[in-house]
Amino acid sequence: MIGIGSALPEHIVSNKDFEAYLDTTDAWIQRRTGIRERRHLNGSIELTDLALEACRNALEDAGRDGADIDHVIVATFTPDRLMPGLAPKLAKLLGTNGAGAIDVNAACAGFLYGLDQSAALIESGRVDLALVVGAEALSRVTDPSDRGTAILFADGAAAVVVEAGEFDHGCSPFVLASDGEHGDLLYAEREERLLRMEGQEVYRHAVERMVEATREALRRADMTVDDVDVLIVHQANQRIIDAAARRLGVPEEKVFANVATIANTSSASVPLALHHAELAGALKPGDTVALAAFGGGFVWGAGILRWKERVHAGA
Ligand code: UT7
Repeated sequence: MIGIGSALPEHIVSNKDFEAYLDTTDAWIQRRTGIRERRHLNGSIELTDLALEACRNALEDAGRDGADIDHVIVATFTPDRLMPGLAPKLAKLLGTNGAGAIDVNAACAGFLYGLDQSAALIESGRVDLALVVGAEALSRVTDPSDRGTAILFADGAAAVVVEAGEFDHGCSPFVLASDGEHGDLLYAEREERLLRMEGQEVYRHAVERMVEATREALRRADMTVDDVDVLIVHQANQRIIDAAARRLGVPEEKVFANVATIANTSSASVPLALHHAELAGALKPGDTVALAAFGGGFVWGAGILRWKERVHAGA
């Protein structure tokens, strides 16, 4: 991973804003979720615009331009149009030479699935440079009258540039899994187009699955929890983040979270946290990062990567 960028809508929705029309309080939201505010697209721009800004920032960070990109993977389940997805238009607007372009939907675990796919394409030699994007406008599929979800979900985009090279670690194979048995605990129906969630149940599964998957990812990477410099898990709820870190035995100072100001942006959540961690000085080149995510399906995953590891000379 050689570059990262992100973009957020300008419009800020604070907890207090919900008090005007929902039976909730700023104090409840902060205590039960850790969230203070979130961003919503308010009609002035589309998700494509937001994703484009994130991609341009990531390319600039990587010192590359659009023509270098072979493949664009966008993780999203809230694209501007049902079809085509976001990826082909982004590939065009970025100036790629007709790069492969695909949207993937793995709910809140989408970025991890996309990143693992990009690594596999690169390792097999089919692709040299890939752009992996998490972009989501959950405000479009949130019921404003449902206090259990309206306060949680938000909008944002982030992108990473992934390149081939000879690394000591790079990106080891991710642990990806699913359990369709629980598809009714977090879903959006075709007709209604609104997220419905059994919060407590999802919470319980999210912690257990992310912990299990992270342990397995460490095992596959031949590492222990002591090797982890930074832990970033899906930013769903501060209590979920804390519980997962506690069970894994990762100390607080190694856990990065931005859920307080970003809330739950589904597939954009992990790359947004990665970028904000770097901007905050909490993530440096060479650091070993553990990532985990969990979402509707259920689908989940975890992976270990070395942050912006340098390519060996001659590679
Ligand atoms: O992105 C995919 C993964 N998503 C997640 O991981 C989200 C997982 N779930 C959660 O984050 C939490 O379960 C919630 C934040 C959704 C809810 O928190 P909780 O501590 O699990 O609360 P609860 O569902 O057990 O509800 C406790 C009470 C209920 O009232 P009663 O039945 O005890 O009278 C809820 O109706 O809190 C009530 N409640 C609220 N009260 C004030 C639920 N939402 C709110 C609210 N304000 N916004």
